[in-house]
Amino acid sequence: MLTWMPELKGRSLLRLASFTDEEMLNLIDLAAQLKARRAAGVRGDLLHRKNIALIFEKSSTRTRNSSIIAARDEGGGAEYLTRPDIHFGKKESVKDTARVLGRIYDGILFRGFAQSTVEELAKWSGVPVWNGLTDDYHPTQILADLLTVRETFGSLENCTVAYVGDGRNNVANSLMMGCAKAGVRYVCCAPKELRPDEQVLAEAAAVAAKNGVDVRVFENPKEGVKGANVLYTDVWVSMGEEAKTAERIAMLRPYQINMDLMAATGNLGGRLMFLHCLPAFHDFNTEVTKECGALEVTDEVFESKYSKVFDEAENRMHTIKALFVSALCDHAAL
Ligand code: CP
Ligand code: NVA
Repeated sequence: MLTWMPELKGRSLLRLASFTDEEMLNLIDLAAQLKARRAAGVRGDLLHRKNIALIFEKSSTRTRNSSIIAARDEGGGAEYLTRPDIHFGKKESVKDTARVLGRIYDGILFRGFAQSTVEELAKWSGVPVWNGLTDDYHPTQILADLLTVRETFGSLENCTVAYVGDGRNNVANSLMMGCAKAGVRYVCCAPKELRPDEQVLAEAAAVAAKNGVDVRVFENPKEGVKGANVLYTDVWVSMGEEAKTAERIAMLRPYQINMDLMAATGNLGGRLMFLHCLPAFHDFNTEVTKECGALEVTDEVFESKYSKVFDEAENRMHTIKALFVSALCDHAAL
């Protein structure tokens, strides 16, 4: 029997602050239940005849496929809509598109540029809207990250996450808040140009303090990662920032996660894992890295026993499913 908080019915996820701490942890717990249920061979009907619109302005492997399979596994459907496919923002305003799609679909997942777009979709569609990444936040990613930490270490207690790299991107912003809400210590290691935005930092620090932990920022990565249990990184150039590639590579080279940095945690023989939201530049096998090789993480770390990146990627599906089920399925139908 699956259990989750009835308060999650009809709810949107625009950023992690959309949920109380308890609601966020409850969603992660529901994802763990759904994962176990799927592993037992159950493909249910919790989303029977529920239809979800996926509006994508940016590329995606994990978020797109997780959403489609999450809906399909439970008897629902998802339609992938890119900007050239629909009138969105060109011949039709976001507000009008929201009102149309809200009459047709049961929910909307949006990936794109402006945070204001996902907020406008939520304001006008009348259905739950989920943020599948904007320039500012990536909340569905962090649900999967926290699930991965919980299942690898057995709990989220007494844990320190050190994020190393572009400390003010969408993943870093949401990870900082997710850790604060979960009572996990968060350390950001970034050059001063890429420190977290002061307001985003202050908001997370206040939540962290309430939960008995803290948020710290270091410029020196070797100092910052001391005692960390999770080393986390993301690409140095996020989608939409491609013009900054050369500048970022020069700035972030000293922030690469390699075995020396893993060792600097002091936890090589203890509780330690490597996470990355993916895609990752860890080898010569991409168009970007075919000349230069690894960027934000070495192949050695990526392929090591510490790396849980594919558990993390799989967990995108279970956590997105938890979001869809908790928002769209009636408890009474169970
Ligand atoms: N981590 C993540 O969001 O991956 P995609 O860009 O492939 O969706
Ligand atoms: N920060 C990255 C995350 C990709 C999942 C980007 O926005 O491109």
